[in-house]
Amino acid sequence: MSSSELHRVCHVSEIAEGTARGVGVGDRQLALYNIGGTFYATDDRCTHARAYLSEGFIEGDTIECPLHGGRFHIPTGQPFSPPVRVAVRAYPVQVIDEEIYVRITENEAERE
Ligand code: FES
Repeated sequence: MSSSELHRVCHVSEIAEGTARGVGVGDRQLALYNIGGTFYATDDRCTHARAYLSEGFIEGDTIECPLHGGRFHIPTGQPFSPPVRVAVRAYPVQVIDEEIYVRITENEAERE
């Protein structure tokens, strides 16, 4: 079974174009990105050695991890260059009345 919920994370003015910031949603830490006025969200922790992607460097539609320089494709979370090999989870984002919302689907099987 799974359930899906929309979570408000911040106002569009709180994240400048071309930047990322970390946001907490429940017990998750997400990285929120503004690329050319479109917003994206992924898990904030790198799948390689758990550095914070929100402290990394955006290049085009990729984020470079600040620790070892691995890169992920922001819209999909897919690994883009070594040493990262495992995708980071990407979340659907919606903007409603200038507020940014992230949709988080919880799978029962995911819970520990
Ligand atoms: Fe991100 Fe190593 S912790 S590439």
